[in-house]
Amino acid sequence: MNTQELINTARKMVADDKGLLAMDESSPTCNKRFAKWGIPETVEARRAWRELIVTTLGLGESIGGAILYDETIRQQKKDGTPFVKVIMDAGIVPGIKVDTGAKDLAGHPGEKITEGLDGLRDRLAEYFQMGARFAKWRAVIAVGDGIPSRGCIQANAQALARYAALCQEAGMVPVVEPEVLMDGEHSLDRCGEVTEEVLRTVFNQLYTQRVLLEGMILKPNMVLPGLTCPRQESVDEVADATVKCLLRAVPAAVPGIAFLSGGQPSELASARLNAMNVRFKSALPWALAFSFARAIQQPAMEIWRGKEPNVLAAQQALSHRARCNRAARRGEYNAAMDKDMSAPTNIPQVTKPAA
Ligand code: 13P
Repeated sequence: MNTQELINTARKMVADDKGLLAMDESSPTCNKRFAKWGIPETVEARRAWRELIVTTLGLGESIGGAILYDETIRQQKKDGTPFVKVIMDAGIVPGIKVDTGAKDLAGHPGEKITEGLDGLRDRLAEYFQMGARFAKWRAVIAVGDGIPSRGCIQANAQALARYAALCQEAGMVPVVEPEVLMDGEHSLDRCGEVTEEVLRTVFNQLYTQRVLLEGMILKPNMVLPGLTCPRQESVDEVADATVKCLLRAVPAAVPGIAFLSGGQPSELASARLNAMNVRFKSALPWALAFSFARAIQQPAMEIWRGKEPNVLAAQQALSHRARCNRAARRGEYNAAMDKDMSAPTNIPQVTKPAA
């Protein structure tokens, strides 16, 4: 393991107020998103969608790393140029999702364990050869009556730590993603409690497995009320709860925290990230960035709908969302940016907390 290279890569991924673009949906997940817009659920349509994304002009100005999927890392543009080369030429670090999905956790109804450790050392070596310099593994934690259980949190945290150690051994930066899901009626406070417990357990396991904190990126959920919770807190309240939780649980040695979007509306995800940076950026030890899939891709996919004549307009929408999120990293995102794209938006004003 070359420690300095890992540190350099991790820093590069979130440098210059950039973030990560998650385009690592498995084929079934990608097909599910295509089905909503009547896009054919074929290998060629998935390739065309990924070509649209990676050839978006200026993407590297806002995106520091792109997370690919096994199918995608092996694909090329129509003219035969490998996607990995297109990404690297844009100054973006290529990465790869390496977990094999969340399966039912035995003895724990309603809870999941993420699989993919078997054979991981060999797969990482192959992906490194192909140019990937970071990897991603997502654990999912559901909130509900009596869950999450200690058993679920511990099993997922240990798998994340074993994956992270194998990544670093292979020279790749682990993006450690423990996602507390938004589904449910739970309150913002409950999400905060669960997220704090999950993160504390994950960092305990990362320490136990000797993971270099300076050479990793954390990809957590924001602290949010459940989707069907009757009380939906303001952007500022979400920013405060999220930063308070992270300050308690994430060591200062971690260079970057890149949030998943988790199904939040695109503008709201940008506004919440923006509020965190407006209110706290100068006081935080780590960069607060983004690693969005849906919150960057969805508006573009809706425009594209699988039709060649829509490619340019879809790329403009994708580039726009990437730029909005870069602005949010600087605390410079506002509703007017989205009005420029004539997208409907309802972004509340953000205020700095009293000193
Ligand atoms: P979303 O931003 O759509 O939640 O996806 C992020 C991700 O990579 C999920 O694993």
